[in-house]
Amino acid sequence: MQQPPLPSGAGAQHRAGPLDNLDQWDDELRSRYLARRTSPRFRDYEQTAKPQVREFYRLNHRYQTYDFVQAKHRQFLSLDRATMGIWEAIELLNTLVDDSDPDIDLPQIEHLLQTAEAIRADGKPDWFILTGLIHDLGKILCLWGEPQWAVVGDTFPVGCAFSDRIVFHEFFEENPDRHDVRYNSPCGMYAPHCGLERLTMSWGHDEYLYHVVRDHLPPPALAMIRYHSCYPIHHEGAYAHLLAPEDASTLQWVKEFNRYDLYTKREERMDVEQLQPFYRELIAKYFPHRIRW
Ligand SMILES: [Fe+2]
Ligand SMILES: [Fe+2]
Repeated sequence: MQQPPLPSGAGAQHRAGPLDNLDQWDDELRSRYLARRTSPRFRDYEQTAKPQVREFYRLNHRYQTYDFVQAKHRQFLSLDRATMGIWEAIELLNTLVDDSDPDIDLPQIEHLLQTAEAIRADGKPDWFILTGLIHDLGKILCLWGEPQWAVVGDTFPVGCAFSDRIVFHEFFEENPDRHDVRYNSPCGMYAPHCGLERLTMSWGHDEYLYHVVRDHLPPPALAMIRYHSCYPIHHEGAYAHLLAPEDASTLQWVKEFNRYDLYTKREERMDVEQLQPFYRELIAKYFPHRIRW
C-alpha cells in the first residue's frame, strides 16, 4: 500500500500538531500510568482522553510506517544540521516553552534538571545523572520543523505487527503497514528473539538523541536514552517474542530510569544559575566541546 500524504501543516513550526505543546504528551503519560494503578488496561484512559490527545495518537499511529522511519533516518542521522555543545542544546530546547501559559508549562530545562537532580539525590553514578540531564534533548527536532507526532509519543517497533498493548492501538488500522504482509505478522521482517537493538523503532526524540550521543556514553545510558519512550516494551511487556535474553538487563536500566522521568515532582522549581557549574563540569567529563546534531 502507498504511503499516505503527510497532513497539512506537518513540519511547519514547532507546535505543528494537535497538542498545546510537547509537555502535554509527558503529562498524559503520567496521568495514564497513575490511572493504570486502578485500571489494568488502557481502556478507561483511552475513553477519557482529551480529543487533542486522541488526535495526536491517531496521527502518530497512522504515519509511523517502516518507510517513514527509514526516510527520517536518511533525513536526520547524517547529523549535519548543527554543531553545538550539550549545554547549548539545552538552552536551544528551552526556547520551546509555550509562553502563552507560564503557570503550567515549565521550561524544558526544568524537567531535565529535575530528573537529573532526583537521580543525583539517590547517589547514582555520574553518567546516570548526565543521562537524566540530556535524555529529552532530541526534542529539538521540533525546532527543525518536525510535527509533534514524529518527536514525542510512545515508541514501538515498526516492520512487524503493532502490539495491542500500544495505547490507542485501534488507530493503527489506518497505518498502511498494518495491511502489508511484509510487516503485519508477529515477527514481520525480524527473526524471533533477534534482540532489541535489531528492531527499528518508530521515529522520535529517543532514537535521534541516541545517534547524537552514542560515542560518548556507556551502554546502559544509551539504552535509557534510546528506549525511554518505549512504554509498550518497558512498561507493558509487549514484543517478548522479539527480545533476546540479554535484553532483560538492558530493560532493567530503562525501567530504573523511567521512575525518574515519569514520577519526578514537576512543581519543584530549579535554580538553573546555581546548578549550572556542576552540570557543565559533568558534561565536559563525557562530551567534547561541540558535537554534531
Ligand atoms: Fe522523553
Ligand atoms: Fe523526559
